[in-house]
Amino acid sequence: MHPLEALQQNPFVLAPMAGITDHAFRTFMKALDASVVVTELVSAHGIEYASERTLQLMNFDETQRPVGIQLFGEDPEILGRAAQVAEQRGADFVDLNFGCPVPKVVKKGAGSAMLKDLPAMKKVLAGVKGAVKIPVTIKIRTGWDASLRNAIEVCRIAEGEGITWVAIHGRTRAQGYAGLADWDYIAEVKSQVNIPILGNGDLTSAKKAVARLKQSGCDGVMIGRGCLKNPTIFRQALHQWKNPGAETLAELPYLEVLSGLHQCLEKYTPPNLIGIQMKKFAAWFSSGYPGASQFRKQIFQSKSHEETMELAFQFFETVSVNAQQDTSHEEFLMGGHG
Ligand SMILES: Cc1cc2nc3c(=O)[nH]c(=O)nc-3n(C[C@H](O)[C@H](O)[C@H](O)COP(=O)(O)O)c2cc1C
Repeated sequence: MHPLEALQQNPFVLAPMAGITDHAFRTFMKALDASVVVTELVSAHGIEYASERTLQLMNFDETQRPVGIQLFGEDPEILGRAAQVAEQRGADFVDLNFGCPVPKVVKKGAGSAMLKDLPAMKKVLAGVKGAVKIPVTIKIRTGWDASLRNAIEVCRIAEGEGITWVAIHGRTRAQGYAGLADWDYIAEVKSQVNIPILGNGDLTSAKKAVARLKQSGCDGVMIGRGCLKNPTIFRQALHQWKNPGAETLAELPYLEVLSGLHQCLEKYTPPNLIGIQMKKFAAWFSSGYPGASQFRKQIFQSKSHEETMELAFQFFETVSVNAQQDTSHEEFLMGGHG
């Protein structure tokens, strides 16, 4: 399915998160109703050198469609060739990362540095578009810093180059992950351009995701950290979007969540990492529930995978979705590649 068509059926997209939205996690989120999913960022240079680790990042399964492979780099030709590899591997679209604030990436002119050099960005867009037949999307920040918030200009260039959508993380590069995403600005951009826009930033509940989608007029929204504390956020958001005024789904489908994650990890994660991943996710999922800190202590002390699963089943069996307190004021994963 074309990614734009998927948005019409379900506008809640899984944001790319390096080290998190890997093969296993994307399959897991897709089963819990995420719409389009995007891989972690993949280095175009890494693809050029065909490094095994880099190629692995591009693996996906059929359940993830439509799935995009996110690339970063600064050279139009290298990015073009990397996009061809993504296309050959069957990706539904290629997403270009113009939001990464990490100094190592920015220093080379890649990631959010492209926001400071729009002629260079235009060349990259033309290079990649010319290299592949599949759709090309981009993910940006609102601008480089407060004095250079140029998302509108970026969107116009993207539209001119035939890009399919622009996803906007509502912070400047200079802001990092501090403060709040500026949804007023995202709405302003949406109102002034014709290219489809995905809004992104701080959608920590299904209610917020649906409200921001409506208020901003965006064509879709991307949810990143929100699904780490609430893995059912996509299902809840889709339910509320399709049934305006509907109550939240009260039951946490904990069996589906924990067993589903476990199955995905077993299938796609190296055996030595399954245990730690399960503990990490279960600890995040417990955020805001009564007894969460005690549960976290217990789970990180567990000696076997069986014990981890048992502790998790015991804990989540007793909680109701409505008992989860809002912990969005607490700092949580304040760094990333976009
Ligand atoms: C741990 C982490 C890793 C990230 N990695 C990427 C990435 O690889 N590519 C990208 O475009 N954005 C990346 N991001 C940014 C997210 O996609 C998203 O724009 C940002 O977290 C704001 O959305 P949220 O508040 O819903 O999390 C990452 C964010 C985090 C927290």
